[in-house]
Formats: sequence, C-alpha cells, structure tokens
Amino acid sequence: MSRYVDAGPGTDTGAHADTGARTDTGARTVVALAGVTKEYPGPVAALRGVDLTVEEGELLGIVGPSGSGKSTLLHIIGTLDRPTTGSVHIAGHDVAALSDRRLSALRAQHVGFVFQAFHLVPGVSARDNVAEGLLYSGLSRSVRRRRAAEALDRVGLADRLDHKPHQLSGGQKQRVAIARAVVGEPALLLADEPTGALDSESGAAVMRLLRDLNREGATIAVITHDTEIARELPREVRIRDGRVVADLRNPSAAPSVATGAGR
Ligand SMILES: Nc1ncnc2c1ncn2[C@@H]1O[C@H](COP(=O)(O)OP(=O)(O)OP(=O)(O)O)[C@@H](O)[C@H]1O
Ligand SMILES: [Mg+2]
Repeated sequence: MSRYVDAGPGTDTGAHADTGARTDTGARTVVALAGVTKEYPGPVAALRGVDLTVEEGELLGIVGPSGSGKSTLLHIIGTLDRPTTGSVHIAGHDVAALSDRRLSALRAQHVGFVFQAFHLVPGVSARDNVAEGLLYSGLSRSVRRRRAAEALDRVGLADRLDHKPHQLSGGQKQRVAIARAVVGEPALLLADEPTGALDSESGAAVMRLLRDLNREGATIAVITHDTEIARELPREVRIRDGRVVADLRNPSAAPSVATGAGR
C-alpha cells in the first residue's frame, strides 16, 4: 500500500521511458547505477560502490549471503530509497533530480515490486488486491478491476478472483502479488526472494511465470538465495559485503528477449 503514498491521482511525473538511453546493441537502458553507496545509521555500509546496468528485456538474479546488501540494492533500484552517494538512473531519469513526489510517480509508472512476504491486503479479494496496483493510474475503478481480472488470468488464477488472501495457498498468494506488480505493465519488475516462502514446486511455478513475463518483454531483477534458481537465469549478479563481486552470463540459461541485451 505504502509504495504509492506520495503520488496523487494522475500525477504527471514528466517521466516517460522513451528518454532512456540506448546502447550500441539498440537496447534501452532501464537501470544505471554508478558508484552507489548506502550507509545506514550505525553506521552500516550496506553498499560500497555498486556499478550496475540493466538493459530492457533482461532477466537477472541478484545473489549473495544474508546481509550482503541485496534488499538495499533492490530498494535503491526501485527508488524506494535513495543512495548515500553515487548516481541512479531509472528509465533514463536521474533519481537525484526528482522530488520525492515525482519519484513516487516515476515508481508507480515504471516499477513493480514483488516482496517475499506477499504484502497482500488482508480481507480484500485477489482481484481488488491486484487492482490496487493501478490505484494511481488515473483509470476508472471498473477498468482497474477488468485489468486486474486479466492479470490474474495471466498468472493462472482466473478462477480465484474473489478469494481473499487467507483463502489462497502460498504459491497462489505470490502469483496474486506478481499479478499486482505487473498489472500496470511496468518497465521493470523487481522481486525480493519471491520463492523464499514457497515449497519447491510452487517456487518453480513462480519462476516459470517470471520467465514467461520476461519472454513477453518484462525486464526483471530477482533476488534469490537459491543457487539452482540463479544458475538457470541468463544473468547472475553476485553481491558480497555491499559490492558486486561477479556479474555472470549463463550461456546454458534460456536467453532473455529479443533486444540482445545482456549478451
Ligand atoms: N534500515 C536499516 N538500518 C540499519 N541497518 C540496516 C537497515 N537495513 C539494512 N541494514 C543493514 O544493511 C546490511 C544489508 O542489509 P540488506 O537487507 O540489504 O541485506 P540482504 O542481502 O537483503 O540480506 P537477506 O538475505 O538476509 O535479506 C545488513 O547488514 C543490515 O543489517
Ligand atoms: Mg533481503
């Protein structure tokens, strides 16, 4: 809920993805981090100089031990938090140049989040949980609900529209959370341990879904502890002590979509 709080309905960020820089492969750069550090009070140096570029159409894993800075990094990529130093560009926009309000609007427009613990609103149907992802889209309630039903159909839950979170299995809840994250067709989908709370079968189904969404064009970054999952992703960014220690391409993994990004 809280992720859109600063953005008023219909807020115009002046932020459109078409300003994103293109690389020599022709792919658009969705995420560009340069020299990013993050210090928390303590002080804790959670990130110690991260450079990371993600191009449109990529599917990458962010892997590392507990406390290495993965969630911190995902929050900064998703503009939920700002870096202490360094620069962050999302879909061509310099995050430092945007007010909190415009940043919220940029996020609402371009970024979808999937959290480990689902973050569904209790007592509210699957359909309305998903429709919440369009709250600040300027669309009418009936259109939001229609889009929500379509998104739930896409994740295989067309027959669970009116189920409330407590009436859904863990894997189904996570699929609702994914539907909510993608219903606004964000340029970037960020998932923090989306399989962490699931048994291996439900986890595999969620990963298949993310792959399908990637094949349809979504740019996806997924945090995982699971080295088997990471090995099957086209790109694996390894983090340790707040630094990127490896950025690997997995030739055996199914390539991400047509842009040629990440080759
Ligand atoms: N709000 C905060 N205030 C102070 N320190 C924090 C805060 N959030 C995270 N940290 C610290 O920053 C470091 C990185 O935390 P982060 O949550 O990014 O790790 P992580 O890689 O996601 O770990 P996990 O795999 O356990 O989720 C940790 O040492 C953590 O204790
Ligand atoms: Mg974490």
